[in-house]
Amino acid sequence: MAHEELILGIESSCDDTSIGIVDRHGRVLACETAGQEIIHNQHGGVYPEYASRAHAQSIYPAIDKALAAAGVRGQDLRAIAVTRGPGLIGSLQVGINAAASLALGWSIPVIGVNHLRGHLRSADLEEARVTYPAVVLLASGGHTILAHLPDRHDAIVLGRTRDDSVGEAYDKVARMLGLGFPGGKAIDQRAALGTANIRFPRPILQQGLDFSFSGLKSAVARHIESHPEIPVEDVCASFVEACLDILVTKAERAIEATRASCLVLVGGVAASAQLRAGMARMAEKNGVKLCLPPLKWSTDNGAMIALAGWEYLECGLAPELVATPRIPLSAF
Ligand code: KG4
Ligand code: ZN
Repeated sequence: MAHEELILGIESSCDDTSIGIVDRHGRVLACETAGQEIIHNQHGGVYPEYASRAHAQSIYPAIDKALAAAGVRGQDLRAIAVTRGPGLIGSLQVGINAAASLALGWSIPVIGVNHLRGHLRSADLEEARVTYPAVVLLASGGHTILAHLPDRHDAIVLGRTRDDSVGEAYDKVARMLGLGFPGGKAIDQRAALGTANIRFPRPILQQGLDFSFSGLKSAVARHIESHPEIPVEDVCASFVEACLDILVTKAERAIEATRASCLVLVGGVAASAQLRAGMARMAEKNGVKLCLPPLKWSTDNGAMIALAGWEYLECGLAPELVATPRIPLSAF
């Protein structure tokens, strides 16, 4: 393959330094990720200053490793794509600085990508899975968004969280239960071993397509305080059941409203086995195709940023390369 057919994607918006090398069809030649769990675990959440320092340490070794794994030289790439936001400003800046200086040295273009667009494209990594019109649920540590995708480029937001994201709720409940950070996976695994015998609230379940998770999180906190003897597995199962009920009900409502024929699940929480199973049942009931990226592409990664970079190139999109903490899904 001609190397100019490859984009190197840099993701550093939160707590993963990840470098992906991807062709225009979504074939992943390399993806090197340096996580920061050990650093943030001690604080029970992402500590922004430590995150940017860790990105600064890991980014060049990760780029070197990815280039070696793909067998390509930087100057032979088509472009570098880098997350320009949303995310932590210091962390974004580390990725942007590396991208801008390498692109200058290698005389190739650099493209600033919306991280949320990267999550959308993650569903087509390694093979094109999404068909249109689709509904996407983006459920991550920073976002909970339902959107209508009439075609590959347009994303119309239908609903979003009014307070905590679902991933944040998972992480906070995990912290209450002493399950470490980030705790989504630990909660999901324990939920499979427990019984959903506590009826937690489902805030704004009957209203529209927005979400709210902060009341659910507080109800779990109160329950743990007043019933310390309850098995952790049962708390997890009951909490996950409430989250699933909310996410599945709203996704089903979005499908009915848009008449979409495909449901796409992306973002870190889409790695949840429980969520995947619940959505699969709902999709089957509604005769809708379910698109799930492989688990490794659900959480933050550089490959999805590289594939989004191809879309920007195709469409001639070149947003200003500035670290931008907040960007809506509808923007590029
Ligand atoms: O997409 P992501 O890697 O980062 C953001 O853009 O936020 O999502 C991270 C979130 C965390 O809240 C983490 O606890 C959650 O995804 N997560 C999971 C699972 N794996 C990661 N939640 C539920 N089940 C999992 N298996
Ligand atoms: Zn993300």
